[in-house]
Amino acid sequence: MFNSRIIGMGKYLPENVVTNDDLAKMMDTSNEWIVERTGIHERRHIVKGSDDSPSTMALKASKVALERAGLEADQLDMILFATLSPDYYFPGSGVLLQELLGIPACPAMDIRMQCSGFIYALSTADQFIKSGMYKNILVVGAENHSGGLDMTTRGRGVSVIFGDGAGAAILTREEDHSKGILSSHLYSEGKHAEELSLIGPSTMRWVPEIIDANDPLDESYYPYMNGQVVFKHAVVRFSEVINEGLTKNNWKAEDIDMFVPHQANLRISQFIQKKFGLSNDQVYNNIMRYGNTTAASIPIALTEAWEEGKVKEGDKVVLAAFGSGFTWGSTLMVW
Ligand code: ACO
Repeated sequence: MFNSRIIGMGKYLPENVVTNDDLAKMMDTSNEWIVERTGIHERRHIVKGSDDSPSTMALKASKVALERAGLEADQLDMILFATLSPDYYFPGSGVLLQELLGIPACPAMDIRMQCSGFIYALSTADQFIKSGMYKNILVVGAENHSGGLDMTTRGRGVSVIFGDGAGAAILTREEDHSKGILSSHLYSEGKHAEELSLIGPSTMRWVPEIIDANDPLDESYYPYMNGQVVFKHAVVRFSEVINEGLTKNNWKAEDIDMFVPHQANLRISQFIQKKFGLSNDQVYNNIMRYGNTTAASIPIALTEAWEEGKVKEGDKVVLAAFGSGFTWGSTLMVW
């Protein structure tokens, strides 16, 4: 049995910055409402007509991660691509990224676990490395939310929260069992599937054949979120799954050098920080600048924490996420 360890990380954010005031020109909202409820000041949206898509953004993040890891793309044994907004209905974005990276053949698998996607993908990579089956695995989270949001007042409860971007991590085999990923804890609870969901387009609900520009698609073609239900479940599940990881590894909250929560909402992160008595130096948040980038949020935040020298070799790092499904999970690692 081996451990797996992150040896390189990268991120990519589209250049187009969309501020809260920009949104207020499209829908009935305000900077004050958004900042007070979510902590978000601005987010990035793909520039229409640019080459940015989940797979191309993932490529840019992956190239940075590979360079930092000192690996060439052809040394990867596997690609795991976490996204809720894949380029195509099928095939998945993993195979598109594989082609963009110029890898002739390797397993390239999409992970459809929404906000918990990166934690699920990391854990999956860890199992393949632990077992000895693979040595180097690329784990990516990338989202193009802006392409599918309802940017009218009808969609404001959701649209102000989400942003686009990609983050990537390279995992490799580690023989020292005190380093790398120590444990992952994963959960799903499908009874809440529709509380945070996008029902159409799907096999149950294709796009209507004729779309009248003056009569927008019905609501089921846009993401739906029962914000208060999500909030209540998120704070409970985040706490449970972090506690489970701490207990499993015999760590206390004060042992944590860096906690990187999924960037769902600053109020959720602050609630968890307070609950575990963590100082500002122990928690990394960047939702203020990027909004909620779902499966990309943890790898983008972790990349930035590392770039800023806030995650160093030997540090105890905790990642945790909660999201649509509902799904939730945590990963504990020694950097
Ligand atoms: N601007 C202005 N007003 C708005 C907006 C907006 N963008 N969105 C909703 N409102 C209005 C509503 O229409 C409602 O008006 P009404 O009272 O006249 O009916 C009022 O504001 C209050 O709406 P609520 O939905 O009750 O607002 P709430 O205080 O619950 O805040 C929010 C909404 C921010 C979504 C909150 O529920 C929340 O933080 N939920 C957690 C969900 C979350 O963070 N999800 C992130 C994505 S999921 C994930 O990553 C886990």
